[in-house]
Amino acid sequence: MSDINTTLLQNMRRELANIKPSAIRSFNKEVSSIPGIIKLTLGEPDFDTPQHIKDAAKASIDNNHTHYPPTPGTDGLRAAAANFLNTKYNLNYKPTQILATVGATEAIWSSLYAITNPGDQVIVPTPIWPMYLSIVNGMGLKPILVNTEPNDFVLSAQMIEDTLAQHDHVKVVLLNFPSNPTGKTYSREAIEEIAAVLRDKEIFVVSDEIYSELTYGKTHTSVAEILPEQTILLNGVSKSHAMTGWRLGIVAAPEGIIDKIITVHQFTVTTVPYTTQDAGEEAFSNGIDDALPMREEYIKRANFVHEAMTKMGFRADKPEGAFYYFAKLPEWLDEDTATFAHNLAYEQAVALVDATPFGPGAEGYIRISYASSMEDLQEAMKRIQKYLDSRRK
Ligand SMILES: Cc1ncc(COP(=O)(O)O)c(C=O)c1O
Repeated sequence: MSDINTTLLQNMRRELANIKPSAIRSFNKEVSSIPGIIKLTLGEPDFDTPQHIKDAAKASIDNNHTHYPPTPGTDGLRAAAANFLNTKYNLNYKPTQILATVGATEAIWSSLYAITNPGDQVIVPTPIWPMYLSIVNGMGLKPILVNTEPNDFVLSAQMIEDTLAQHDHVKVVLLNFPSNPTGKTYSREAIEEIAAVLRDKEIFVVSDEIYSELTYGKTHTSVAEILPEQTILLNGVSKSHAMTGWRLGIVAAPEGIIDKIITVHQFTVTTVPYTTQDAGEEAFSNGIDDALPMREEYIKRANFVHEAMTKMGFRADKPEGAFYYFAKLPEWLDEDTATFAHNLAYEQAVALVDATPFGPGAEGYIRISYASSMEDLQEAMKRIQKYLDSRRK
């Protein structure tokens, strides 16, 4: 093996020095070798992709959809995705306003790259999925972290106003709801108030609504309904259709703006694999309601976990969506969250996540992904109880 040229290494992209490897993924990998471990770590549905979507993918290959598909997505996929958004969330997108991306992750990257210049400020409500911090930092943008814990984990219009009063280069406000990691969502009123503050300002909202189909017991209001001209809406099939491995996200944005995002997409990934696009078309059309039975199951699990955890002394609100349980450790337990997560994994073979990497407001919290079978969740709760019992002595 050749020696590392340290000068070359030091002269690589500066911003990468600000990016930490995913603590959640490395913890997940570390604990995977523990015998009998129950992992409640990653945000990955335990359901399989619905059969009709798999059949559409097989037909796609048999139909020789094996060449380059169009850069922004096939006509069929873009039409189905626009119809899905319009029908479900009272929106008004044309197929030409839709871009198919390699997962929602690429949707975040291509959108932010297209709308910002290095040094632009981005309002990042925290706790937030750490990928956002990596992308914002990696692109040379300036994150302004706003801790939403004091407002029940919802970014208020007032918080935005206060932040804008102190920063004059804000280009983007990021939103994600239902939220990873808090399981909270935004009411229609909250969205209307945010829109009222941002309307007619030279500021974009990048609204990650990838968990929109997993909203519990209330209607999901998209920012794109209230503030369409300034909103870049992100969604996808990873969570709603249990399709994380297919890598399909979507961006919906006003004409003109979407074209620039398509340009970024073109010179980074060219296009999304054809088979995935055909599967996505099936998901957004014949599978328009595929998330509903899964959502029912997630609600049952959320209720079960909430009851069990609060009985054990954890402090949390009932989730309003997505599939995460975000809780504070029992007051009497004299342990920090990293120690707790580590010891619980090694002593009782249950892995959950220390929430600290999700940013300000997440200190003292742990996150459980309840996208796991009820049997595993039941067993995990018993093991957590045993762990607490061992600490009481
Ligand atoms: C808030 C949020 N946005 C985007 C993604 C990424 O989705 P995808 O797998 O489609 O890239 C995730 C995945 O965990 C997420 O939690």
